[in-house]
Amino acid sequence: MSGTPLISLKDVIKHYVLGSEQITALDGVTVDIPAGEFVVVLGPSGSGKTTLLNLLGGLEAAAAGTICVDGEDITRLSEAALTQYRRHKVGFVFQFFNLLPTLTALENVDMAAEMAGAHAHDPRDMLARVGLGERMSHYPGQLSGGQQQRVAVARALAKNPTLVLADEPTGSLDKETGIEVLQVMRDLNRQTGQTFVVVTHNSAISTIADRVVRISGGKVYMVVENPEPFEPSEVDW
Ligand SMILES: Nc1ncnc2c1ncn2[C@@H]1O[C@H](COP(=O)(O)OP(=O)(O)O)[C@@H](O)[C@H]1O
Ligand SMILES: [Mg+2]
Repeated sequence: MSGTPLISLKDVIKHYVLGSEQITALDGVTVDIPAGEFVVVLGPSGSGKTTLLNLLGGLEAAAAGTICVDGEDITRLSEAALTQYRRHKVGFVFQFFNLLPTLTALENVDMAAEMAGAHAHDPRDMLARVGLGERMSHYPGQLSGGQQQRVAVARALAKNPTLVLADEPTGSLDKETGIEVLQVMRDLNRQTGQTFVVVTHNSAISTIADRVVRISGGKVYMVVENPEPFEPSEVDW
């Protein structure tokens, strides 16, 4: 089921300087991600997963290489154009939810939708779609971890982004809640056709992916297409 690549990385390199030491976080990554797929990037801790996601999301800059997203090389964008890219094209989901604690669920989602402007989805509708129609006026502190992460998914999707990036989205949840969150993300992927890139160190999660990108030591060493991905409810982790 390989379609047109939405994302195309070529020879991407990223270093961090820590004191006198230079750490190569990405060491020549070349990979294509077709539009509409649910892709899992799988690798151990320290392999470069977060770095890869941050580069894809325009949060950090590559040292070398090209990152084409939706026909545009984001490594060549000005700061202003990159801000527009992050605001309109990318929805982020983080391990620790990153909701604003003083805003209700609805206000958290609403803020993202407002920033995205005209093509955003109705925040109430998004919260209903992640199963939180009855919890809109709750504050993050009044919600369980799984519910908070579903608010974060609604927030990411409310912008109606081209690309949804999730960094260990189940990493701080128990198994049952993690599966619920994955189910919500996969359902949205199937309904909207938006491309999802989910990074994890948990190999069980890769069973639900259309495509698994394996990374180690800052290098992609294998890409496997999965013709019959599992439903999240079937994941055995
Ligand atoms: N801001 C940073 N400064 C210095 N080194 C970093 C920074 N971020 C990541 N690294 C290093 O880059 C490598 C890849 O990190 P990361 O992308 O966070 O891996 P993963 O998400 O797979 O655990 C690791 O060696 C990590 O220590
Ligand atoms: Mg990480």
